Amino acid sequence: MSKKPVRVAVTGAAGQIGYSLLFRIASGEVFGADTPVELSLLELPAAVKAAEGTAMELEDCGFPTLTKINIHDNADSAFEGVNWALLVGSKPRGPGMERNDLIRDNGPIFVGQGKALNRAASDVRAVVVGNPCNTNALIAMHNCREVPANRFSAMTMLDENRAKAMIAKKAGVGVGEIHNLAIWGNHSSSMFPDFENAKAGSKTVEAAVGGRAWLEGDFMVGVQKRGAAIIAARGKSSAASAASSCIDHVKRFMEKTPAGHWFSAAVPSDGNSYGVPAGLIFSFPIRSHGDGKYEIVQGVKLSDYARKKIDETTKELLEEREVVKELLAR
Ligand code: NAD
Ligand code: LMR
Repeated sequence: MSKKPVRVAVTGAAGQIGYSLLFRIASGEVFGADTPVELSLLELPAAVKAAEGTAMELEDCGFPTLTKINIHDNADSAFEGVNWALLVGSKPRGPGMERNDLIRDNGPIFVGQGKALNRAASDVRAVVVGNPCNTNALIAMHNCREVPANRFSAMTMLDENRAKAMIAKKAGVGVGEIHNLAIWGNHSSSMFPDFENAKAGSKTVEAAVGGRAWLEGDFMVGVQKRGAAIIAARGKSSAASAASSCIDHVKRFMEKTPAGHWFSAAVPSDGNSYGVPAGLIFSFPIRSHGDGKYEIVQGVKLSDYARKKIDETTKELLEEREVVKELLAR
């Protein structure tokens, strides 16, 4: 392996998502077969023993790309020199809860981790998975002044993957045919999965599924409430699909997005895109330049229907920001 190692911190390493995520990162799937991966696992002290078990299994896989595993119960040491910080560790919701019911328990975690990233890492990209992920990313970003704001993102790729899978099933086509399905706004039941600008092959999605009624009804609610449906069915929140979408998120940012295409991620709003207030961590259609830079895709046409949905999810994010305002250091 000729390349420089990539150092990846995963928080909540002993949790459900951690158990699916770590093996795929270690396998070389994300950073390539010629890039050594050094894993830094962060857990609460009570879960360090379980993280050690996961580390034993990682070793037992014999991945040639996995060159180091360290386990920490301290964010400063866990984040030392990392290139990617996958911030998963936090409490999941239970049945009957909305994701933002977790703000008071989970928000403070991202103050401490933002500050630790500030001290320990400079060339880092932080991806927040722990819910409510947009607002937790906002908290981490505000507490990490030394790292550029555009290095922080929150994951809405799972919502994009869910939306594509639902449309593909309805249209009777392969999921690979569905593209440019942007999730706008919050990873919550106010998100807007933009079926109006998405394509099924060369057709509009509306044409592919035979009309708009299903898209505005069962599809919309199905995507918005899929996380809750999984909790109701499994008794636990999504894990393997969340980990897989986190892998997709990192890969999409690393690879150049093909011309005319986009993917979904929640990033800091620049204040000049689609009327979303500056600084909110908002899911937009994104195009990666493949060199570490990305842009919010401009010029996507929004109908009055879409505009209304985007305004609703913006309002919810502003309300969440208000709730955590004491946790925002800048
Ligand atoms: P889990 O309870 O199985 O695991 C969470 C782990 O985090 C536990 O091992 C716990 O000890 C650890 N942890 C808690 N606080 C920590 C801290 N301060 N530092 C380090 N580790 C800490 O939960 P899970 O199913 O893996 O889910 C984790 C989070 O991801 C939840 O908030 C869940 O809601 C969220 N999630 C987000 C998405 C998304 O699409 N954005 C999808 C699925 C789950
Ligand atoms: C999901 O979308 O599956 C996760 O955010 C977990 C949840 O609470 O819904």
